[in-house]
Amino acid sequence: MTTENQTKIYTPDAAFAAAANVSGMAAYEALCKEAETDYEGYWARLAREFVTWKTPFTKVLNQDNAPFFKWFEDGTLNASYNCLDRNVERGLGDKTAIIFEADGGEVTKVTYSELLAKTSQYANVLKSMGVQKGDRVVIYIAMSIEGVAAMQACARIGATHSVVFGGFSAQSLRDRIEDTGAKIVITADHQVRGGKKLPLKSIVDEALTLGGCEKIQNVLVVKRSGAEIAMTEGRDLWLGDLAAQQSTTCEPTWVEADHPLFLLYTSGSTGKPKGVQHSTGGYLLHAALTTKWTFDLKDNDVFWCTADIGWVTGHSYITYGPLALGGTEIVFEGVPTYPDAGRFWKMIQDHKVSIFYTAPTAIRSLIKAAEANDAVHPKSYDLSSLRLLGSVGEPINPAAWEWYHLHVGGGRCPIVDTFWQTETGGHMITPMPGATPLVPGSCTLPFPGIQVAIVDETGNDVPNGQGGILVVKKPWPSMIRNIWGDGERFVKSYYPSELKGYYLAGDGAIRDANTAYFTITGRIDDVLNVSGHRMGTMEIESALVSCTELVAEAAVVGRPDDTTGEAVCAFVVLKRSLPTGDEAKAIAKKLRDHIGKEIGPIAKPKDIRFGENLPKTRSGKIMRRLLRSIAKGEAITQDTSTLENPAILD
Ligand code: WT7
Repeated sequence: MTTENQTKIYTPDAAFAAAANVSGMAAYEALCKEAETDYEGYWARLAREFVTWKTPFTKVLNQDNAPFFKWFEDGTLNASYNCLDRNVERGLGDKTAIIFEADGGEVTKVTYSELLAKTSQYANVLKSMGVQKGDRVVIYIAMSIEGVAAMQACARIGATHSVVFGGFSAQSLRDRIEDTGAKIVITADHQVRGGKKLPLKSIVDEALTLGGCEKIQNVLVVKRSGAEIAMTEGRDLWLGDLAAQQSTTCEPTWVEADHPLFLLYTSGSTGKPKGVQHSTGGYLLHAALTTKWTFDLKDNDVFWCTADIGWVTGHSYITYGPLALGGTEIVFEGVPTYPDAGRFWKMIQDHKVSIFYTAPTAIRSLIKAAEANDAVHPKSYDLSSLRLLGSVGEPINPAAWEWYHLHVGGGRCPIVDTFWQTETGGHMITPMPGATPLVPGSCTLPFPGIQVAIVDETGNDVPNGQGGILVVKKPWPSMIRNIWGDGERFVKSYYPSELKGYYLAGDGAIRDANTAYFTITGRIDDVLNVSGHRMGTMEIESALVSCTELVAEAAVVGRPDDTTGEAVCAFVVLKRSLPTGDEAKAIAKKLRDHIGKEIGPIAKPKDIRFGENLPKTRSGKIMRRLLRSIAKGEAITQDTSTLENPAILD
């Protein structure tokens, strides 16, 4: 089907729609209508249907202390009970919960009963170390059954986990340990990715020497490589050995609905990464609900979300959502390009994956590889088990969408382009695969009940066809509850006074004049999205200027990149004279390594340009829009009359 302007529209297949959990536009619209008519009643109904409560809630939404909203506040529950015990009680004890595939290809499966036993043992270990409800536990580990069990174990005893992605440096890990005030770190000796053994435990050791981590009592280490590593007597313990001595049962600790299930650090436009605080009840509801509706998860599906548990996608769509529904899922340790770029396709074939959820950046890099080599092209694999595809983390360009649809989905699988954020806990704007006609490059329509809108700087609605600021008008159950320890920053960042009490997502968006479909136009703040990884330009600038022996000043901007979506581009003024040739290359390498140490390899700039000065206004502000044009290689069309030093542009 095509419209006048040649936008392709893909309508859901009739058979898929008939069997779908949300079957057709009428069903979608009925849900939206239900939410509109009785907002609290709608969420209360779903919270009763999807979550098993220890004490049922009687209050739904409490707005007394807005924007510190409370959902289901007098209900109590346990997230781990909902993900594990409940499934065993329903007779799913012998069902495979996780199919783990290691970097080297070895496969390990665990059933719901086994995962419950392991989680309970870990929970008992944490208890024996004195971890109590409300204590924080930092988890610095690679993709593994142990990683999922560690998160579930924290949830089981009411401890708040904070997973730090294994690609972050000792310095970043230290910052997060200090900010959370954690007592315990759970890590592994190593992580194995792309055939390489990379350290984890030694990075924890380094982080703990950097100061500020005095609250840490123990480091629990999972054995992955089995290689010899340094263990500090009295502090460091092997988790497997301790767990083996523990009972395989552990009574869940029932927590109130708004009890913090986890903290996850993410970048904003200013300052250090913020600890996004999520609730237990509202969060779990949305993780489960979106897994059911957006991914159309059914009992016999094999679900694969390729995200790392270090990001929110891994929390909602590995650790919590699919398990809450009793699904079977893949956990993959490795990388998409090892041993070759056919790895994803081979795994889909081997495990008969039916639902596959990945990021545009991965798709784009695999397109390149497939176009260069038939052997790693999806057509060389049997992908007939697939019935649904998903995309997340950044806008998916229509060309990548079409390729994904045709070559991976065989032209028959709907693609759900899911827009959401660390702060939102789960999908906000997304197609319902058995209902929504798809337009490549558009995340289409709001998830039923989510009141997203596009407004101007004063919070007034803008008409369809006109771009503006993406907001959420009403609180929703899985929303961020606070920035850990910084309520003021929470209010400032997400509920600025000029926006009428709406949640500010930080993205620009536009709705199509005909279809009212949403397209995300990108961040409106100083946040970059590189390969779906979120980074603040300020953070990278601070890391650069902390290299005090070399750097006088630095400015960081993003520029479009064919593979990674955006690339980090740094403009640096050195303390010494302008370097050229090999010397410039050597200094750039030094700075990249420095950023790798300060933040992590993901933040290393693709381009580093040296200059005598930065373009500034007369009041001393760096003119980033000029730098962005320069980074893109565009002609400068902006007004440069306010520039204090116009000659700098040359
Ligand atoms: C930012 C949030 C969502 C979990 C992973 C990233 C961008 C995310 C999409 C999408 C266009 C998207 C936005 C958002 N983003 N999904 N489908 N289309 N943009 O979570 O690290 O908190 O990043 O990612 O800019 O604000 P995050």
